[in-house]
Amino acid sequence: MARCFVTRGLPGGALGRLSEAHDVEIWPGELPPPPEDLLAGARVAEGLLCLLTDQVDAALIDACPALRAISNYAVGTDNVDLHAAGARGIPVGHTPDVLTEATADMTFALLLAAARRLDEGAAAVRAGEWLPFGPGWLLGRDLSGATLGIVGMGRIGRAVARRAEGFSLRVVHSTRGSGLPLEELLQTSDFVSLHCPLTPETHHLIGERELRLMKSEAVLVNTARGPVVDTAALTRALHEGWIGGAALDVTDPEPLPPGHPLLDAPNLLVVPHLGSATHGARKAMADLAVDNLLAALDGRPMLHCVNPEALEQD
Ligand code: GLV
Ligand code: GLV
Repeated sequence: MARCFVTRGLPGGALGRLSEAHDVEIWPGELPPPPEDLLAGARVAEGLLCLLTDQVDAALIDACPALRAISNYAVGTDNVDLHAAGARGIPVGHTPDVLTEATADMTFALLLAAARRLDEGAAAVRAGEWLPFGPGWLLGRDLSGATLGIVGMGRIGRAVARRAEGFSLRVVHSTRGSGLPLEELLQTSDFVSLHCPLTPETHHLIGERELRLMKSEAVLVNTARGPVVDTAALTRALHEGWIGGAALDVTDPEPLPPGHPLLDAPNLLVVPHLGSATHGARKAMADLAVDNLLAALDGRPMLHCVNPEALEQD
């Protein structure tokens, strides 16, 4: 039996399976544990099951001498210092595949909502401003025949490309080492959708220069990570009409505090990081996160480990 700290209750029965095998403490709050509570829980743990809202940095890992497995309940692992974990020989697990289709669906929901101005239309109805059918009211963009530029053709990018085919979009992509140069993708796409992980290389990948390269009617969709986009530059881009609109599932900062300048920008749709938020995906993520942790605590390879190379050096 190993001591485990889990930073949030999870859907389904996965944590029950973990508790049958190990001595498990689950943070009881609805919100992430504050850093001092994360530290208090993790410092005595051998296994940590954390969320993308938990900063598992080098200082935290240093303060946890018994820690030997980190399982992130997310596909992205930018919240975990992989270098510090690897240096200690700690495997870091994540939850790819099981959220691919849900996140690709959300990407299309945002893309369609932005293209067809659903937010403005629904707001007009609720405000009692529903005008009789009019030839020029709330006109949006056609998907058919338009070009979708996918930045990062990984699992989720490919799932978005499959959907795009059904909408008769032309798909181009830019991925490290293949596809179009990013500049060319930005200049030619009517919709630009981000699917790269957040790393030092992709931090502010989309800044002022990139936004100015986009077509003035183009829509930027981000279901990846907020800091891939420079928020200040995006705010100006929307106010000054460099691009046609943005539809975001992720932001920087996240959550956006009330009154944040981005929220005043026109042609902006923001939803609160719901890419994987389906019953099926979240249950499967819980199962995979628990299976990753169980495997590592047992001395077996995790099902999905992001730093296997660090472990081979043992
Ligand atoms: C969600 O954003 C994830 O990385 O799983
Ligand atoms: C619109 O509702 C149409 O019938 O064209």
